[in-house]
Amino acid sequence: MYKIAVLPGDGIGVEIVPEAVKVLKSISQKYGHTFEFTEGLIGGAAIDAVGAPLPDDTLQLCHNSEAVLLGAIGGPKWDTLPVHLRPEAGALLPLRKALGLYANLRPVMLYDALLDASTLKKEVIEGTDIMVIRELTGGLYFGEKRREKTPTGQLAVDTLIYSTEEIVRIARLGFEIAMKRKKVLHSIDKANVLESSRLWRETVTGLAKEYPQVELIHMYVDNCAMQLVRWPKQFDVIVTENMFGDILTDQASMLTGSIGMLPSASLGGKVGLYEPSHGSAPDIAGQKKANPLATILSAAMMLRYSFNLNDEAKVIEDAVVKVLDLGYRTPDIMEDGGKPVDTEEMGSRVVEQII
Ligand code: IPM
Ligand code: MG
Repeated sequence: MYKIAVLPGDGIGVEIVPEAVKVLKSISQKYGHTFEFTEGLIGGAAIDAVGAPLPDDTLQLCHNSEAVLLGAIGGPKWDTLPVHLRPEAGALLPLRKALGLYANLRPVMLYDALLDASTLKKEVIEGTDIMVIRELTGGLYFGEKRREKTPTGQLAVDTLIYSTEEIVRIARLGFEIAMKRKKVLHSIDKANVLESSRLWRETVTGLAKEYPQVELIHMYVDNCAMQLVRWPKQFDVIVTENMFGDILTDQASMLTGSIGMLPSASLGGKVGLYEPSHGSAPDIAGQKKANPLATILSAAMMLRYSFNLNDEAKVIEDAVVKVLDLGYRTPDIMEDGGKPVDTEEMGSRVVEQII
């Protein structure tokens, strides 16, 4: 039996998560696994219901589960709350920290059927298959923040901190994953300007001695941003710090046609967290327009990384390929001749390929 905490959250989160649960249920029926789903409140939904973005009950539920399936959090309604009450700083970041999830895996995979869905040229994006490993519990996101009044206005401070240990553990994962793939690792930093990046680069270089078969390439983040759209095929595994990883993965998502296709797994502690890389998309929330595939693919990652159900994970991924090959499209990946479906039907089409 596998215990799964289900946290739909806000915006399109409540539309896409049920589709991933539907897909997991079809897997459990077909393969005879027992998944126990327990829902919890998080983000704006939790603020509205109980006055806190990450209620203790929810945190306990996550600690007592083997994996967490999260939708998305946040929205304009909660943007003006004091920062510790906001869904991002008050719920998502503390949850990542509390569960010790220092490694965020974001596979950037272009499905053949979506070659024309991207705004980028076909010949550039064809064959894109990159694993981005984003450090998730350090850097600017978690360093000290403060404001001070000055005679003429204010001063705001964010602190970018990385320790050797934090860099080693994420870089090691980068090398290990590179060993299982093409043995090429790009480490992204801004070592020409930032001291934390200089430590990052030295540390990664030192660790590389343990992985002589891996070709290690250091690249500045600005150059990486450019290279990702110039010639994405040069990348296989990317490892980078928190903020750079946040930005580069949104950018890289367009190589797949839509950010609605980008799943993620956050690992490092006892409990893994699985969520789409996109946000709560308040602009399309409640309209059944959201693409559930990133969440469904995150559920596949859950089977693989938390439960070691590799075949079942592959079954979900293959089902997604088939559904796309059959032409079913949510608005974000629509193209001429595509068959329009809403969030729910997209989930049902995936289930159809599994049962
Ligand atoms: C992501 C999101 C979050 C982040 C936000 C919602 C805090 O953009 O998971 O990429 O910046 O980590
Ligand atoms: Mg982001």
